Amino acid sequence: MKNTVVIGAQWGDEGKAKITDLLASRADMIIRYQGGCNAGHTVVAQNKTFKFHLIPSGILYKNKLCFIGAGTVICPEVLHEEIESLKKENIDLSGLKISPLASITMPYHIDIDGKSEATAGAGSKIGTTKRGIGPTYTDKISRHGLKVQDLFDENDLKKRLEAILSLKNRELKEVYGLSEYSMEQILELCKKYAEILRPYVCENWQEIFHNALKEKKSILFEGAQGIMLDVDWGTYPFVTSSNPVAGGAFTGSGFGPSVSQEIIGVSKAYITRVGEGPFVTELNDEIGEKIRNIGHEFGTTTGRPRRTGWFDAVVAKYGVLVSGLTSMAVTKLDVFDTFDEIKVCTAYKDKRNGKIYEYYPTNVNIHEFLEPVYETHAGWKTDITGIKEYENLPQNAKKYLKRLETLMGIPISIISVGPDREQTIFIKENSSNF
Ligand code: GDP
Ligand code: IMO
Ligand code: MG
Repeated sequence: MKNTVVIGAQWGDEGKAKITDLLASRADMIIRYQGGCNAGHTVVAQNKTFKFHLIPSGILYKNKLCFIGAGTVICPEVLHEEIESLKKENIDLSGLKISPLASITMPYHIDIDGKSEATAGAGSKIGTTKRGIGPTYTDKISRHGLKVQDLFDENDLKKRLEAILSLKNRELKEVYGLSEYSMEQILELCKKYAEILRPYVCENWQEIFHNALKEKKSILFEGAQGIMLDVDWGTYPFVTSSNPVAGGAFTGSGFGPSVSQEIIGVSKAYITRVGEGPFVTELNDEIGEKIRNIGHEFGTTTGRPRRTGWFDAVVAKYGVLVSGLTSMAVTKLDVFDTFDEIKVCTAYKDKRNGKIYEYYPTNVNIHEFLEPVYETHAGWKTDITGIKEYENLPQNAKKYLKRLETLMGIPISIISVGPDREQTIFIKENSSNF
């Protein structure tokens, strides 16, 4: 398989894990490179449903190296739960590797995330997953974070914590009115974290990576979240705190951009979003409810109902640009099986002055004035969940997909018609991977 990056091209939950799992069967190495346990990645295989937060979605195959990369933030307790539940299922974890450079989410990060969301004024609540993601990345960037490699020498750790903890305690108490942590408490926790992580920490990652390049091993990069949640390119400030765009695969993995040969975006045949922030094609009506119910659109991590809306080609085209997507995987096409008609947003119109936007306006302050310009497609009114060949899709489904390709300007390489591995159509001419 070509070295391939898989990323969400909407606001997360596009079905990236399903696509990663499918491609992982052909890869030697799978790397999760950003985000943390805010991610909820579902793989349905052999009549079982697996939910991953941190572990790469390739772990279900034997003899694959599955890296949790340097750009991730790790909550050791969540990882421990995930590891234990996979062990119960007899999943082989011998390929699981953790970068010594990944950042650690500490309990105070989770406290701060929860409290800052609870006390945010109207309009400034983000609707985070409350997993401490923002505060962990904030500390990483301000150089007050702990990395996996810091956990293993108690003397060095204590020295670092002396500087960090007094600062954090001041923040906890004075800014948020929260309880402080003692040095003993944190050292004890770090000892526990070290034991959880120790069996998987990969000190010789450079050697492994060099050899992978030399031996032309195939590398699969697994993104979390989605382009529109990117801290630089998404609907800021209603975003996550990492870089889900394709570029994040390289800053977060330890491989440079020139290794990538394909970049596959993943989009649903419609769009969902969890949490706050603009969403021009959102449907607050019975159609939105119908999509939510048929698509089971409730968060994998938090159980929150996902907001739903029609496919937004303006968003898709933006993603193609900022991530250099080479093709798109379109998931959940089956959710439209009973729909009479399906809409696609081709542009935005500013209600105040009639101005048409064909490109994504990045200033979210104007989004409340934007309305979608829609075109309408006839539905196919057929159960497509058992179809395995493109030729066998109903004519109207093919027309819909062709139109999406034209609007996005890139081909569709994978069509997903159900959650199971088997419910997938590969378009061979649009990817060299099949
Ligand atoms: P991710 O975060 O991008 O990996 O996506 P999630 O796992 O959070 O959410 C996608 C959900 O849709 C999961 O429950 C998947 O099992 C399910 N799913 C994936 N592809 C399809 C599909 O083609 N059809 C249907 N009906 N469900 C799908
Ligand atoms: P996967 O990988 C969907 C959203 C949250 C919130 C914003 C910031 O499963 O697609 P955070 O906790 O990251 O600070 O929250 O980002 N969010 C996701 N939405 N899927 C995800 O991950 C998400 N991870 C974060 O809902 O709006
Ligand atoms: Mg998800």
